[in-house]
Amino acid sequence: MTSKPKRIGILTAGGDCPGLNAAIRGIGKTAIIEYGMEVIGFVSGYTGLIHKECVELELDKLSGILTLGGTILGTSREKPFKISKNDGNINKPELIQQNYHDLGLDCLICIGGNGTMKTAAKIGELGLNVIGIPKTIDNDVWGTDITFGFDSALAIATESIDRLHTTANSHQRAMIIEVMGHDAGWIALYAGMAGGGDIILIPEIEYNVRSVCKNIEERFEQKKPYSIVVVAEGIKVPKDNTPGNYIAECITEYTGVETRVTKLGYLQRGGSPTASDRILATRFGSYAAEVIAKEEYGVMVAMHGSSLKTVPLSEVEGKLNLVTEDDPLVKKCRNMGVSFGDEY
Ligand code: F6P
Repeated sequence: MTSKPKRIGILTAGGDCPGLNAAIRGIGKTAIIEYGMEVIGFVSGYTGLIHKECVELELDKLSGILTLGGTILGTSREKPFKISKNDGNINKPELIQQNYHDLGLDCLICIGGNGTMKTAAKIGELGLNVIGIPKTIDNDVWGTDITFGFDSALAIATESIDRLHTTANSHQRAMIIEVMGHDAGWIALYAGMAGGGDIILIPEIEYNVRSVCKNIEERFEQKKPYSIVVVAEGIKVPKDNTPGNYIAECITEYTGVETRVTKLGYLQRGGSPTASDRILATRFGSYAAEVIAKEEYGVMVAMHGSSLKTVPLSEVEGKLNLVTEDDPLVKKCRNMGVSFGDEY
């Protein structure tokens, strides 16, 4: 007797990032070709799950999307377990349960960052089978060494810093580049190292303006005609200012050095994934299908070293992967004279 093929649903939630389509393709192709499963995709993240908006993902829909940025399914920042006055009498968790059963699902795959994993854990607590796949340019999901999207954002941030060097040199300026990362400093730290930043300011290391300015002055005294300051968007600044602008204003005021600010913004999230992100997203996706075939649920797929693992969603929920003072990159940067703005 042959058993009924498994039917799985996929959604992409939270901010988009390069590699989402590679992950959808990895799941879908493995699920269909290797395990004979049926696959559907929900439109606009958890919104599609609540409103039962979905599409069948057959093999033709999974071709030609590997290199495509964004997500073919769309995304949203919907938080179905957060009670909002605008929701009226709608009970979103109940709708999710009902739609999951109506659509005959055996498992739901939620691709996203921290918020998405938290919601996925809560869906698991409703008694539904769920798997998480970690993505975000911020690389701040706890339980995995790396998330896909990070390498692509890093490549864009690094190329941008490279370009700032020549113009900074020509004009003898301090160039401030503000990068994303939410409350984590991974993009700033890695792009700062890869792009040869002179000062790197991240939320995890408390900086003081005096130290930043002293460093800029010393560089000029040492006949280094320009400085590159990489600033993470999550550093603390006065309420009425933005990180890049605040640091630039302080440098101009206290040192007299001419400054310019570049806020990289959404360029870091758009476009085609790097080769590394394509591979990571494909591996995560394909492995998620494998995990479902083994009927292991309530977990997030993760990369530990070079091995794929699963981590219980209940452990991931509510935690953040942040840079620590003893991170090897922080140490190496310090050993090479890079400032984190905390020296004086
Ligand atoms: O989490 C990814 C991220 O790009 C963060 O780096 C940034 O703080 C945030 O999303 C921006 O969110 P939104 O897309 O809602 O503007």
